[in-house]
Amino acid sequence: MQPSVIILLGAPGAGKGTQAVRLAAARGLPHVSTGDLFRENLKQETALGKQAKGYMDSGKLVPDELVLDMLFARVARPDCAHGYVLDGFPRTLPQAEAFARRLGRIAPVAVNIVVRDATIVERAAGRLTCKACGNVQHLRHAPPRVAGKCDRCAGELVQRADDAPHVVTERLRVYHEQTAPLVGYYARAGALRELDGEQSPDAVFHALTSVLPPQEAGITPRL
Ligand code: AP5
Ligand code: MG
Repeated sequence: MQPSVIILLGAPGAGKGTQAVRLAAARGLPHVSTGDLFRENLKQETALGKQAKGYMDSGKLVPDELVLDMLFARVARPDCAHGYVLDGFPRTLPQAEAFARRLGRIAPVAVNIVVRDATIVERAAGRLTCKACGNVQHLRHAPPRVAGKCDRCAGELVQRADDAPHVVTERLRVYHEQTAPLVGYYARAGALRELDGEQSPDAVFHALTSVLPPQEAGITPRL
């Protein structure tokens, strides 16, 4: 049976992380987010984290070779043997091409979550992230039950440094220049699905599961 490799594409704030967490749980697959991996490295003050910090804080992409080494090491772990949900990778054509070489005969499915730039700016401004467990909420769309506290673990909710308005503008510019071309890349490979990311998170999840191939037998969902 082929591993199920699902790539979530979309602008910063399109809802990749929100949907990846749900999809990974529903399909019993690990959620692999390069942004989360870099943030974990930053927290642990590793050499990789220190190298990535300047790029992330200014809204630029981390150089491909740093991303690829980290990602390939992550997906080589045994929990990825049946597949995984990718969130935030690939983000450049060289990353996509290197990943295709690594996958060989395994055919990924790429789902583009389409959201307008104006919505992105509003979502970033209100996003809250838990310092302790990484859970993502939103001041208006997923408000915490207790102000400033994570609904999942009661940890402190903070704004991500790269959600400051001037950094969001730069992330969007970088997205259109370097990442948006991947939509055409996966379309040409016949691997692209698209969905409207401006609906409620539940409606987006419903659309996501309907564009994906049915879950392969033999994988036990982590529900
Ligand atoms: P990364 O962490 O991947 O950030 P990103 O792509 O900019 O995406 P976000 O995490 O900001 O948004 P998201 O799509 O996950 O949306 P979310 O679900 O949180 O990368 C950060 C940085 O790391 C990059 O800038 C780069 O420097 C570096 N990096 C990472 N990967 C790299 C790579 N491959 N190559 C090079 N550099 C790399 O949702 C956003 C908000 O909206 C939340 O508050 C959420 O609650 C809310 N929301 C979600 N869905 C909905 C909905 N349907 N309706 C209303 N609100 C919603
Ligand atoms: Mg994310």
